[in-house]
Amino acid sequence: MPKLKIAMVGCGGLPNGNLLPAIQLIDELDLVATCDLREDAARKTAEKYGAPRFYTDHLKLFDEEDLDGIVVAAPPEVHALIGTEALNRGLHLFTEKPPAMTTARAKEFRDAAKGKSLKVLVGTVQRHCPVNQMAKEIMGRESFGTPMAYQARYICPGPGMRMDWGMNRNSDDDMFRFFFLDHIIHHIDVCRFFMGDIISVSAFRSQLEGELYAATINYRFASGATGNQVIAFRSPAFENRCLIVGSGPAWVETQNWTKLEYSCPGLPVGKGSYFDSPVIKWDGGISYQGGVFRPGYREELTTWARAILDNTDCAANLEDGYRAMLIIDAIIESTKGAGEVVIRPEG
Ligand SMILES: NC(=O)c1ccc[n+]([C@@H]2O[C@H](COP(=O)([O-])OP(=O)(O)OC[C@H]3O[C@@H](n4cnc5c(N)ncnc54)[C@H](O)[C@@H]3O)[C@@H](O)[C@H]2O)c1
Repeated sequence: MPKLKIAMVGCGGLPNGNLLPAIQLIDELDLVATCDLREDAARKTAEKYGAPRFYTDHLKLFDEEDLDGIVVAAPPEVHALIGTEALNRGLHLFTEKPPAMTTARAKEFRDAAKGKSLKVLVGTVQRHCPVNQMAKEIMGRESFGTPMAYQARYICPGPGMRMDWGMNRNSDDDMFRFFFLDHIIHHIDVCRFFMGDIISVSAFRSQLEGELYAATINYRFASGATGNQVIAFRSPAFENRCLIVGSGPAWVETQNWTKLEYSCPGLPVGKGSYFDSPVIKWDGGISYQGGVFRPGYREELTTWARAILDNTDCAANLEDGYRAMLIIDAIIESTKGAGEVVIRPEG
């Protein structure tokens, strides 16, 4: 099998905990180098994951290595900066979310990829995890009908802030925006994955005193469907759900990256006895991928690698990343009293 020569740029928690263990399981990817401003991190990560070389300067990495692509997981401005340089040097790119700190910068980053035949994938672990892929496949079945309504929740541990993102830990505005850039961007992406483009949002933010970051968000989709979501930045552990109701009649719900429930008429369950609601339940667990924490990392990186090798499209791309940033801006604007805010992407 042909292998793609890649380098890991940024050797912090996510690469060491998830991306590199996943890359080790992917036959199509060959890690030839690591790069981090912190020499110790670059060296230790290279040793741990079998990369022959390490760097502390991405320009030196680009000059000295014969790469097919890079994976970058660093502060968001570094995604945009190093990602754009990689694209300009003809390298395929896997960039973690968010693509940048501001929507304007995410748009510039998107524009840098335009007209190039390079494969770019923005880290969107949720849409790639098998249960969400299964739910999407179920939604495509004739028996599911038209997706009519969407309901989601995303509650996660916090509040906290990554101190190297240039935001102010003592600013309520920055903390609330950080919650979206670090966490909710994932669920905005998976929402668009299931339901298509979002044309407007309206949102209420919890008005409780103290660092109690929570909100309810309403979505209006281009398809005509509607949806809503509860988010909160205070939970003992991640708790995520996405429910899609189809006109079938049918519904499908996914939970915490591993579980799926599905109901439609005629399911082969609950026969010969009383039943209220015939439901198929599935729990994929994580053991199928060598115990790599949370399904989706291996799949998103495999999707990227296969897109390069097979010259096929891959998503989420930088257009999706830019649109997620626009939606974040609109939600925050709405929580400040703007009512329903229309999303207006620039071409
Ligand atoms: N998809 C997910 O589920 C998920 C989960 C966690 C983090 N992330 C994203 O991944 C990114 C990295 O997260 P993390 O937890 O590994 O962060 P981290 O703080 O542990 O590591 C960031 C690393 O980037 C390095 N770095 C900074 N500037 C650099 C540069 N110019 N060149 C090379 N290296 C540089 C730092 O030295 C540090 O080692 C973040 O942007 C975050 O949003 C995504």
